[in-house]
Amino acid sequence: MDHSTEILEPDAECRLCPRLVEFRDRNRQLNPAWHNAPVPAFGCSNAELLIVGLAPGLRGANLTGRPFTGDYAGALLFATLSKFNFAVGNYGATADDSLRLVNCRITNAVRCVPPENKPTGPETTTCRSFLVSEVAGMTRLKVILALGGLAHGAVLATLDERKSAFKFRHGTWHRLSNGLILADSYHCSRYNTNTRKLTELMFHEVFERITEFLPT
Ligand code: URA
Repeated sequence: MDHSTEILEPDAECRLCPRLVEFRDRNRQLNPAWHNAPVPAFGCSNAELLIVGLAPGLRGANLTGRPFTGDYAGALLFATLSKFNFAVGNYGATADDSLRLVNCRITNAVRCVPPENKPTGPETTTCRSFLVSEVAGMTRLKVILALGGLAHGAVLATLDERKSAFKFRHGTWHRLSNGLILADSYHCSRYNTNTRKLTELMFHEVFERITEFLPT
């Protein structure tokens, strides 16, 4: 039974961040068939695992409307989720493929695509209300996996934790005051994988530990 409470999603016409709205309006003109709106979370709200990414990629999640879907980073993320049984079906890089998440939900710290993939501090802060609602509404939540330092910081701020008490470090698990675990991984971005800052093996090790804790 799903005991989760309702989770607040940004409206498709959300206008909280002027720079992101301007970018969105431009993208709507250039590519009217794309999603070009805040990207809602993917997966069930009664999941025990929440994965927090950075923000939608221009030609990925911003096009398809599903986090990481069509983005370079999504290829490694969804293959890994399938390998560790957090996903079933086939990833086809579109929101209407047959991929379904199992006991896992994916969201982004910032819901709208930012220019050059870089959200500003104020944009991250403004968008945090959605992450706050997300975490509060996931009543069975046990582990939050932060992909990268920005997501890590957004999760800490969401839970009113001091940043200085929990430094971002790939492969680290932090036990937060409310009992939740915050697991850190380098982001599975093109840059990090091409430079081998994050290898497939390193990413798999992160998920191995998660499955030990949350058997699938
Ligand atoms: N796509 C997303 O949705 N989030 C990221 O962090 C990267 C790509």
